[in-house]
Amino acid sequence: MTRSEAKILLVLEDGFDATEIEEALPAGTRLQSARLSSGQHGRLPLADAADAELLLVACASDGDHALELIKAAHTQLQNRPPVVVIYAGSPNGFMERAFEAGADDLIALPQSREQLAFALEKALVRRRGASAPKTGTMIAVLGPKGGTGKTLTACNLAEALAGGGASPVVVDLDLQFGDVGLALGLRPEKTIYNLAVAGGSLDVEKIESFLARHPSGASALLAPVRPDQAATVSPNFLRTVFDLLRSRHDFVIVDTPPAFTPEVIAAIDAASHLCLVGMLDALSLKDTKIGLETLAQMGYEPADVTLVLNRADTSVGISMADVERLLGRRPDVLVPSDRAIPTAITEGRTIVAAEPHSEAARAFTSLAETYLAGGKIPRLQPLQPAPKRRLTLLKKGAA
Ligand SMILES: Nc1ncnc2c1ncn2[C@@H]1O[C@H](COP(=O)(O)OP(=O)(O)O)[C@@H](O)[C@H]1O
Ligand SMILES: [Mg+2]
Repeated sequence: MTRSEAKILLVLEDGFDATEIEEALPAGTRLQSARLSSGQHGRLPLADAADAELLLVACASDGDHALELIKAAHTQLQNRPPVVVIYAGSPNGFMERAFEAGADDLIALPQSREQLAFALEKALVRRRGASAPKTGTMIAVLGPKGGTGKTLTACNLAEALAGGGASPVVVDLDLQFGDVGLALGLRPEKTIYNLAVAGGSLDVEKIESFLARHPSGASALLAPVRPDQAATVSPNFLRTVFDLLRSRHDFVIVDTPPAFTPEVIAAIDAASHLCLVGMLDALSLKDTKIGLETLAQMGYEPADVTLVLNRADTSVGISMADVERLLGRRPDVLVPSDRAIPTAITEGRTIVAAEPHSEAARAFTSLAETYLAGGKIPRLQPLQPAPKRRLTLLKKGAA
């Protein structure tokens, strides 16, 4: 996995206890530590920073030495790594000064071990080497819970986009239990696993030869046929695959498992558009709310995420006003329950192809039209500490 390949330089202000950070970093990270003390003026660990993939600067008090290091890295290193500041002091304008000095992100302490691990994981996924020129629209279809309709949305969106004249490709990132192949009636003759273990360098022609072709004109990079093959697919490999697919296809749709795995984070980071799929029931709405909040922690405003509410006509005593109040925003697309959907899936067909005039098909077609018209573009905000609010939202509203 890429996590174990990461080379990180952790520079600590004098007296800063690194234990918490070291424990929160993924196992196997190649960590080099350096101390930044008042006696070290002019001896900033810049040489070490030059070949690190990520520079973590941890400080607690005024952070002046840390700011000096960030500025020096910014001005003196030609090809510096991303700089993430971990700050444990009281809020006193330090954050602004850190960003002015050239920091890329800031992680404010205290945070729980899980939150810190999550923030560091994101920083690692975004480390140096992550970016490349982008062209086609890339939509990450997300949902923190299984069975909400992510695969349904990804496949129907692809069919509808193809029907609109586009050349979409679906990447099945549900690496262990992906079912895009089944939903589209495609045989997994070659999968993302075969591509990952094929050896040699990746180029767009090679990737194209691993795609399954759908009669609509869409294509798909299918999930491995066995769960144990999933481990061969790393975030680094995926970043290259996404960039190459975007250079050839006008839409790259990524279907995801119900978790923020490193691969999903890589997809979110590479995506131009995010689409969150939730269902109209109390538990699913709670998970959708948490999904929106997690994306907000990653810097994506809820208003910039396209929100699909599936089974939106289900009668469970939750009105649309309740949904809006609970999620803090209105869904963009409502997909009703439709018995023709499981029937179509059994036949390996999308509802857009099987029942194009149904309300469900029209919902997916309207989603495709939104994307053909440009869709919502998420604005990435700097990393923020986790929200302090507790998630009590559904206890009252949905009981
Ligand atoms: N609107 C709907 N109407 C009827 N059945 C649905 C609907 N949405 C989802 N389903 C059923 O739920 C199953 C799970 O949906 P899926 O898209 O695979 O969820 P996810 O990918 O989020 O796990 C589908 O196979 C389908 O049978
Ligand atoms: Mg799925």
